[in-house]
Amino acid sequence: MNADLLKETAQKMVAAGKGILAADESSSTANKRLASVNIEQNEENRRRYRELFLASEGIEEYLSGVILYDETLRQKSNSGKPFHELLKERGIIPGIKVDMGAKDFANFPGEMITEGLDGLRERLQEYNKMGCGFAKWRAVINIKGDELPTYACTHSNAHAMARYAALCQENDIVPIVEPEVMLEGDHSIERCEAVTTEILKATFEHLEMMRVMPEGVVLKASMVLAGNKHEKQSTPEEVAAATLRTLKTSVPANLGGIVFLSGGQTAEQASANLDAINKLAKKEGAPWQLTFSYARALQGPALEAWAGDDAKMPEARERFHKRLKLNSAAREGTYSPEMEANGVAA
Ligand code: G3H
Repeated sequence: MNADLLKETAQKMVAAGKGILAADESSSTANKRLASVNIEQNEENRRRYRELFLASEGIEEYLSGVILYDETLRQKSNSGKPFHELLKERGIIPGIKVDMGAKDFANFPGEMITEGLDGLRERLQEYNKMGCGFAKWRAVINIKGDELPTYACTHSNAHAMARYAALCQENDIVPIVEPEVMLEGDHSIERCEAVTTEILKATFEHLEMMRVMPEGVVLKASMVLAGNKHEKQSTPEEVAAATLRTLKTSVPANLGGIVFLSGGQTAEQASANLDAINKLAKKEGAPWQLTFSYARALQGPALEAWAGDDAKMPEARERFHKRLKLNSAAREGTYSPEMEANGVAA
């Protein structure tokens, strides 16, 4: 394990003004995205969907890294260059999703456990040779009343993430650890805060038990906010206060960095909330860089504009760049909703 390299990679991942594009949808999730805009679902169209984002010029100004899926890592862009080489040439670190998805958790109806530890060492060795600087593993945590999540679900997922993280560091790959507390549900922001605090504490307890080095880990966190069916939706200020409080009580100060998922928030919400978190962090102080690692909130508007028609590529890429620029501002706490209407302010 090269501790200096891991620390350096983690720092680069959360560099000033930049964030991470999550383009690691599994083939079945990528197919769902294609279906949502009526594009035929096959490997070539999934490649074209990646081309829209990964071959877009100038993205290196806003992106430190891109999370890829195994299929994409082995695909080439229109230029004939493998996507991961294209990214590296522009100073963007290629990363790789290595979990094998969340499956029903036996004996615990309504809960999920993420699989993928078998053979992981060998896969990581190959990904390291292919130039991946970091990896990602996502756990899914559902909130339902006071019953879910259970202790068993919380700790089983935390344990799996810790074993994954240790294997990543063994192979000089920075683990992104992503315990996603789902937005779906009628829970309050207070309940989300209590659950997220418990999940993060368990996650870091297991990481420590597995002797994972915090400086070489990036947390991919869900923001703390009310469920999407709750009667009162959270304001950016409420999200910022609850999220920072939760992180400060549960996350080691020497962690490599924190990135957020968008989790089904609209593109505008995800930017406004990230901005509020960073504005508050500037005021109160926080020991970590706090940036974005969005999939839907970065890709959604562009995907709709493109819808499989390459003649619409320029407009689609313009929309993608707009989201990148606005989230780059939000990541610094300098975004404002007016920037949405005006396109991108200077
Ligand atoms: O694992 C989830 C993705 O990396 C982030 O996706 O921003 O659409 O929630 P999202």
